[in-house]
Amino acid sequence: MGRKVKKIVIPVAGMGTRFLPATKVLPKELLPIVDRPIIQLIVEECVSAGLETIVFVTSRPKVTLEDHFDPADLASWKLQAAGKGHLIESVLELAKKIQIISIRQHVPRGLGDAVLKAEAVVGKDPFAVVLGDDIVVNHDGPSAIGQCLKTFEEKDSGSVVGILEVPKAETNKYGIVDFNSSDGRVKSFVEKPAPEKAPSNWALPGRYIFEADIFDAIRATTSGVGNEIQLTDAMAHLLKTQPFYAEKIKGVRFDTGDKLGYIMANVHFALKDEKYRDTLAHWLKNRLEVL
Ligand code: UTP
Repeated sequence: MGRKVKKIVIPVAGMGTRFLPATKVLPKELLPIVDRPIIQLIVEECVSAGLETIVFVTSRPKVTLEDHFDPADLASWKLQAAGKGHLIESVLELAKKIQIISIRQHVPRGLGDAVLKAEAVVGKDPFAVVLGDDIVVNHDGPSAIGQCLKTFEEKDSGSVVGILEVPKAETNKYGIVDFNSSDGRVKSFVEKPAPEKAPSNWALPGRYIFEADIFDAIRATTSGVGNEIQLTDAMAHLLKTQPFYAEKIKGVRFDTGDKLGYIMANVHFALKDEKYRDTLAHWLKNRLEVL
């Protein structure tokens, strides 16, 4: 009991090919959801769960992600942007709380490989992973990674994965988890199964708490399609020797690496903001009538 997680790994070294041409020079994690970049929403989720040491697994075109949280940069902005300082207050507050450590993944060899790169920083301690393009919003309680952390701290051993229900017809888009409904123990992980073969419709939305043993499991995992090392394959390997617990996350997920998911996230956040809600709802209603 009492296992503590101090570091959170956010892999952001992916190519973002689904979002081309927008991502030709611009990291997808910096695309805005209303006025905050995706990465800021992700970091806010981590900080709300008490995780303030952030490990970015990054790549050459992604250095501007660190700049977004650079306090020196922000201070000069605050001075220059006469009368508009309040607009950067949210990131200024965040920058004061966090410590960012960056490590590079030189070749995008998959999520498993990206997580392995963090070993040099994480060492033997348990750690959290949140994907840099999956937003999970819970307006009425602890954040998605906060929910996973609580369960992790209650268990003596093993890892925790967040899960969210998806439509049965869409299991082929996600990593799917088969688990005991009584105690949440994971029975298997299946990568993108066809709906008729899927053991459940509970998917992985990119929220994990791992024991450091995941690193050996990744090393033991051979690369698959596109020479990528899949994190889910490494988890399946580790499951042979260590328990995994599935945490049903309360929240709504948006895959902002996907164009439609990104548009939906913007509409969701704008409708949640009273400055835009009424005007946007009215406009959407009219547009739907015209179309
Ligand atoms: P995605 O599956 O969204 O891949 O990665 P991607 O390369 O970013 O995007 P597409 O599919 O080409 O459009 C999920 C998360 O894992 C990170 C991504 O940055 C994203 O946060 N990732 C993926 C890495 O850090 N390295 C990789 O080699 C692959």
